[in-house]
Amino acid sequence: MSKKIIIAIDGPAASGKSSAAKYLAEKLGFTYLDTGAMYRAVTYLVLKNNIQNDTKAIVELVKNLDIRLEFKNGVTNVFVNGEDVTDFIRSPEVSSMVSEVSVIPEVRSELVKLQRKIGENVDIVAEGRDTTTVVFPNADLKVFLTADIDERAKRRFEEYLSKGRKVAFEDVRANLSKRDRIDSSREHSPLSKADDAFELDTTNLTIDEEIQKIIDRVKQIKFVKELNT
Ligand code: DC
Repeated sequence: MSKKIIIAIDGPAASGKSSAAKYLAEKLGFTYLDTGAMYRAVTYLVLKNNIQNDTKAIVELVKNLDIRLEFKNGVTNVFVNGEDVTDFIRSPEVSSMVSEVSVIPEVRSELVKLQRKIGENVDIVAEGRDTTTVVFPNADLKVFLTADIDERAKRRFEEYLSKGRKVAFEDVRANLSKRDRIDSSREHSPLSKADDAFELDTTNLTIDEEIQKIIDRVKQIKFVKELNT
């Protein structure tokens, strides 16, 4: 089997990862791997089973997890143990708990195993917090996105509003700030920039500008010959 191409994009919440990763995956015909959706799905199950204070039970749950991602019409549909959890994993409840669940080393090692398995068989665009550093350290292209917290809070707030979810701006900002702190300071695979990652601050960029800057890098990958941009 020929070597698969891996593009990995990391950065904090609402830094522009999903838009860029989805666009590139569609453009290149690659599989889009939303690793955050996997951590969210586990967190949804943790809350549903009310085991948020029982690390042993969480580890047991993740070891017996049957998780499937299906990317269709711009949405990652997530199925866990046969249940379609797509509509639930982006709720404020899951968002405020997901970083705490993601700190557990066994949760990380199990999900990383699954992510690498997906990367063995297909060309992918992966996004998350540790895809450039831990999951795919040999990725063909590594991108590290950043943006000011106020700009990111504004983007996430508007996203909730567009979906008809009533949330307070200050709560959204506080949640992002808390997640930034936990995701960047945890002991196992914290969010950090790989030395060889292309760093891009998206604070003052439109999504089109952001994508164009990433595409310019993608074009430098040896095996990506054609991009109609
Ligand atoms: O990308 P997102 O906001 O959907 O991710 C949700 C959370 O999942 C994030 O706050 C931390 C965790 N996560 C992680 O620890 N490692 C990843 N590779 C992806 C997400």
